[in-house]
Amino acid sequence: MFGWSKRQQHTVVIDDHPAFAVDKNETVLNAALRHGFAFPHSCKAGGCAACKCQLIEGKVRELTDKSYLLGQEDMDAGFILGCQSIPQSNVVVLLPVNPLANQLSVGTLRQQIPLTHDISEIVISLDDPLRYLPGQYASVSALDTGLPARCYSFAHAAPEAGAQEVSFFVRRIPGGGMSNWLLASDSLNKRVELRAALGEFHLRDADGPLLCIAGGSGLAPLLAMLEGAAMTSAVNRPVSLLMGARTQHDIYYQDAIMALASRWQAPFDFIPVLSEEPADSDWSGRRGWVTEAITPDRCVGAQGYLCGPPPMIDAAINIMTSHGVASDAIYFDKFSDQSLTVR
Ligand SMILES: Cc1cc2nc3c(=O)[nH]c(=O)nc-3n(C[C@H](O)[C@H](O)[C@H](O)COP(=O)(O)OP(=O)(O)OC[C@H]3O[C@@H](n4cnc5c(N)ncnc54)[C@H](O)[C@@H]3O)c2cc1C
Ligand code: FES
Repeated sequence: MFGWSKRQQHTVVIDDHPAFAVDKNETVLNAALRHGFAFPHSCKAGGCAACKCQLIEGKVRELTDKSYLLGQEDMDAGFILGCQSIPQSNVVVLLPVNPLANQLSVGTLRQQIPLTHDISEIVISLDDPLRYLPGQYASVSALDTGLPARCYSFAHAAPEAGAQEVSFFVRRIPGGGMSNWLLASDSLNKRVELRAALGEFHLRDADGPLLCIAGGSGLAPLLAMLEGAAMTSAVNRPVSLLMGARTQHDIYYQDAIMALASRWQAPFDFIPVLSEEPADSDWSGRRGWVTEAITPDRCVGAQGYLCGPPPMIDAAINIMTSHGVASDAIYFDKFSDQSLTVR
């Protein structure tokens, strides 16, 4: 009896597909991929949430703490990370509904346009058009390098038929494999593969104000979202765009943001907030943490859209909820990296 139960294989059901078996110590994601199931994923290491799914039945052992990536609502609803979950019984999971997921597109790295000392705009021309919602991201692989795929958020809105060229704002991470490869001059004209469109960060219908908070390269999905919104009736919603940066030299895309603001049909406040600007500089704007610019008046009736480093997002959510914004009216993408997730 004991021997039989040791050998017993658990099964996984994804949505309403037929069950498949998982090996001992195999994650939901690896088992799904082994059985040829197109399960959305990117880092496979608990760092991006691309493999997020809802556990409906059964038990899993989780390899890492998912709370740095998933919001409380998701955790309360039973969401897990497929790449970090080993079934301990037969399980049933549901994937978030995303009709744009599982597009695979190959392209060529065409341009690297410096924006700040450590962020550049990367332009990729694609062999076939790729469809995505402004705010979503792609899992990017550098072909023939062996580097693990990493997630990057589209920096501009796409035409409805799909984008033939896409841009990302990539920040150089010291010791980082993919970011340094994307920014290296000898990577120009090299081939890359994009899995997209991932994530649930996109504009939701409503009439109230938009409170957008960006840190570093986190401006990319917010810019794409606002560019997309400018072509819809959402252009009538008041916007506060708070951008956290260290010094004046770390603010970028200001002219494009001001041009967007001038076309906007409702008030559009762009507020850069500098945390390390020298005290004796000519900067007359706001100083401190970007989260200190979240005032109660900006929160009234607002939806929150937050992108950037996880600590900034956690702090912003705390402040916004303390000013009365419901947690289910706050949407975010945490730009986590392996230093936060690999132990
Ligand atoms: C949804 C999402 C969207 C994102 N969008 C963007 C974007 O638009 N722009 C952007 O610039 N970034 C974005 N990111 C972050 C991006 O995906 C990468 O994590 C980032 O570029 C670093 O990748 P890398 O390969 O260069 O670094 P990695 O090689 O992954 O290394 C990152 C850091 O971890 C350290 N590290 C690596 N391995 C280990 C280990 N085993 N133990 C401890 N530390 C380790 C490295 O030294 C380095 O400091 C996003 C992330 C997510 C999850
Ligand atoms: S693929 Fe699971 S968290 Fe990235």
